[in-house]
Amino acid sequence: MTTKTSQLKALLHSPNLEFLLEAHNGLSARIVEEAGFCGLWASGLSISAQFGVRDNNEASWTQILEVLEFMSDATSVPILLDGDTGYGNFNSMRRLVRKLEQRGVAGVCIEDKLFPKTNSFISGETQPLADIDEFCGKIRAGKDSQKDDDFCIVARVESFIAGWSLGETLKRAEAYRQAGANAVLIHSKLNNPSEIFAFAREWANRAPLIIVPTTYYSTPVEAYREHNVSVVIWANHLLRGSIAAMKNVARTIFEQNTIVNVEDHVAG
Ligand code: SPV
Ligand code: MG
Repeated sequence: MTTKTSQLKALLHSPNLEFLLEAHNGLSARIVEEAGFCGLWASGLSISAQFGVRDNNEASWTQILEVLEFMSDATSVPILLDGDTGYGNFNSMRRLVRKLEQRGVAGVCIEDKLFPKTNSFISGETQPLADIDEFCGKIRAGKDSQKDDDFCIVARVESFIAGWSLGETLKRAEAYRQAGANAVLIHSKLNNPSEIFAFAREWANRAPLIIVPTTYYSTPVEAYREHNVSVVIWANHLLRGSIAAMKNVARTIFEQNTIVNVEDHVAG
């Protein structure tokens, strides 16, 4: 039986394009695994939303940890946690990595912004980036703290989100790779993959490349294979699907004052 950490590492280095689907509690995690996915993305946005709070570190990181424990216990596939900015400085990162290992989480992705984090798609918000050296120190602190060699730390580069150039994005990604990151996640809020593909061409497979095509979702996945993307994250669709379904059921029961007409449309 391979460990969850080695499964995640294998996904990152797989010759095939791999996919992670979002989950936000034990039930949705089980559903992701049963659908056939080989790993899951514990989305900060979705876990916050299922608590009814904003994606802004309003939930404490130990509250996130509690959810992760249920997700991990409910599944046998690896979990990559969206760890926002690491919930503080390098000291927080050290404790975070130790606690994640204890709860069976296979890896964590941290992004180079400031605590408390700002969601990447909030328009009109400035998105200040972390200092490169400080963020590299956080990556190193995480890598130094892991007991299991296969635990993965993914460095998420937010410079396109913050309006910076390809050059700045490459500079940051390379610094994070050298600091020990197992993969880089490049995020973009454009409705086409031009930034991502420009990065991929220059990056030339120096380390696994992860993407989150939330806004450029209509791009055929074949194009990601052609650009040497390693992993695609579908970042929020179970949460959004469940909201649509719950609203519909709640409205129907309220308006009709009976459950007769929902019985055939809900899980048996
Ligand atoms: C999340 O799922 O919380 C993410 C991805 O960070 S995104 O919302 O696309 O920035
Ligand atoms: Mg997030």
